Amino acid sequence: MAYDIDMIKKVYSQMADRVNKAREVVGKPLTLSEKILYSHLWDADSNQAFKRGKDYVDFAPDRIACQDATAQMALLQFMQAGKKNVAVPTTVHCDHLIQAKMGAAIDLVSANKSSHEVFEFLESVSNKYGIGFWKPGAGIIHQVVLENYAFPGGMMIGTDSHTVNAGGLGMVAIGVGGADAVDVMAGMAWELKFPKLIGVKLTGKLSGWTSAKDVILKVAGILTVKGGTGAIIEYFGEGARSMSCTGKGTICNMGAEVGATTSTFGYDDSMERYLNATNREDVAAAANEIREHLTGDDEVYANPEQYFDEVIEINLSELKPHLNGPFTPDLATPISEMRDKAKENDWPLKVDWGLIGSCTNSSYEDLTRAASIAKQAVDKNIKAKSDFGINPGSETIRFTAERDGLLQIFEDLDATIFTNACGPCIGQWDRSDRKGDERNTIVHSFNRNFSKRADGNPNTHAFVGSPEMVAAIAISGRLDFDPTRDKLLNEDGEEVMLDEPTGIELPPKGFDVKDPGYVAPSDDGSAVVIKIAEDSERLQLLEPFEAWDGKNLTGVKLLIKAFGKCTTDHISMAGPWLRFRGHLDNISNNMLIGAINAFNKKTNFVKSQITGEYDGVPAVARKYKAAGISTIVVGDHNYGEGSSREHAAMEPRHLGVMVVLVKSFARIHETNLKKQGMLGITFVNEKDYDLIQEDDTFNLVDLAQFAPDKPLTIEVVHADGSKDTFKANHTYNDSQIEWFKRGSALNLIKIQNNA
Ligand code: F3S
Repeated sequence: MAYDIDMIKKVYSQMADRVNKAREVVGKPLTLSEKILYSHLWDADSNQAFKRGKDYVDFAPDRIACQDATAQMALLQFMQAGKKNVAVPTTVHCDHLIQAKMGAAIDLVSANKSSHEVFEFLESVSNKYGIGFWKPGAGIIHQVVLENYAFPGGMMIGTDSHTVNAGGLGMVAIGVGGADAVDVMAGMAWELKFPKLIGVKLTGKLSGWTSAKDVILKVAGILTVKGGTGAIIEYFGEGARSMSCTGKGTICNMGAEVGATTSTFGYDDSMERYLNATNREDVAAAANEIREHLTGDDEVYANPEQYFDEVIEINLSELKPHLNGPFTPDLATPISEMRDKAKENDWPLKVDWGLIGSCTNSSYEDLTRAASIAKQAVDKNIKAKSDFGINPGSETIRFTAERDGLLQIFEDLDATIFTNACGPCIGQWDRSDRKGDERNTIVHSFNRNFSKRADGNPNTHAFVGSPEMVAAIAISGRLDFDPTRDKLLNEDGEEVMLDEPTGIELPPKGFDVKDPGYVAPSDDGSAVVIKIAEDSERLQLLEPFEAWDGKNLTGVKLLIKAFGKCTTDHISMAGPWLRFRGHLDNISNNMLIGAINAFNKKTNFVKSQITGEYDGVPAVARKYKAAGISTIVVGDHNYGEGSSREHAAMEPRHLGVMVVLVKSFARIHETNLKKQGMLGITFVNEKDYDLIQEDDTFNLVDLAQFAPDKPLTIEVVHADGSKDTFKANHTYNDSQIEWFKRGSALNLIKIQNNA
């Protein structure tokens, strides 16, 4: 379980020199983000000032974390790289493959049964290659990382988009695809476009019903799901310092919801308190010694407009509690306006469930604040009108919350305490109260609320709020309940109000745990044998993708023109498909089944140009592949937003899609397409999207001259023989073009390893 204090001390010992040098090279005071980025350059001798939003830069991250769903494919890929051990401290966390149904005791047993093969595979690969392994039930990756591994000024990557959570402890922590993690595990540099910087100045102080969650709900409303794309959001100001470390974690966590590369906060007393409370006094002491380098320069925060690309100011004293949703996390509504807005939009007012916890909001402070509301229901004799579900973030949190009587308070309201795992947050929820597609409303303290995300039902209206607001709304059973204004009728027929929440930042008696659920790897794992059953449905060894023949791509058929939002959930759905994450062929049967076909507005119903008939997307793709025909996917804005799952790139690649042409990409997905040896390109003129027709054939007529900064020419041949020709941009640099040439980034790693 041990965090690597020697590694942290090494990072800190170099920090002063590197930061001072960067300040000289850049020629001005530095933000915290720049300090961390420049002190983690792969080439420490570089004397370059990088252009934000433009230059691709190689970095050397300090740590890697993988969750069980993404780790399968990442480790299957790493196994192909021919290495003895991972090059950088790495952990694997079993949290996504555990269904929430009856409660932790029963659910964990059944997950250990149903996913036994996968957990055993992950544990044995971890054991073999020097990776720390966190068992099912140990906790949710980001909470476990915050409690054990995150450190101020560090840089980490993780195969999950909410890796950004570790920004709460002052890291630059970035969600990546498994292919990126494999590069770093294999000892290679990790490449990132140098991010732009958004500064968020927090003034004032949180009070009453307003919490850290409301800061990010507000920021999401301002920036929208695209507004943070390609940027690091750096929070600063007295308001930032007044907040708890775990509150900062919540804010950073949901930076993923505005598309931000990551978010971070400068090192302060709250972080020191958290490090001490989680038994890392040595890390706090080491951080204290270089405190000035673990936060932005004073001048930057005094005149932020001069140093950030965009500045937002939020006065915490004036901030109102919000609920965001449904179906998108950036639809921000102050609680006080929900009544009108819900009526206007005909959102179902009755709330079925209040779900508290997840990686976003399961700190001790969160649980105490939510419990302070739940307790009032019992004390004031109010019967909770909705069901309660609690997902503790880790066994340490669960054990401590149980010891301190917090879980009992929720149990007194008949809450179901789910496993310390993702559960409903990732669609792993076997919901017993509603089956089918009924319209209904739930509120939760998670981060995402895309359609079908929690329970697979497209008509579940999920709203995101703070744990304490979720508790209040669940008690009232109404979406339009405003606890600052509205009264509730108790069982004695009296009108009562809920008092404002109160919380405790850190457990007064300290954190405690009996078995944290950690398994250390062997010192020498060379004798460990990794087994995959021949007939396994869940795991499949990988075959390398074919290299490019260097010629123009011609005769490429349109597979689907996706209309509107197309997230990685639409491209590679989660829920029941999670079980096939380690089996590329089987999981490919979910490829793009959530995307809306622009020509008939239906999902998973596209025309095959071979037969002229309509069928599901994977079935049509398989027929093209069998006929040796490459295909293209056309999409709208922010294509691939949502998560880091590289399956959303590997599946199309596996089923013969060679090109994804869209109005704009979400960063991680664009990189993932490149890693898998595909062409991810964007319309130069967005209106050209409208030219694409259902029976189109595409020719990439100058691909043979593929080069950085040189747009590609696309010729589209319509069914009647007429043609349109237009340009598409790409962001491939020389080494990414090399991935395309070799068929994938992994193919290139193998060649380099064998050289
Ligand atoms: Fe992700 Fe939710 Fe788990 S955001 S890590 S799925 S708790």
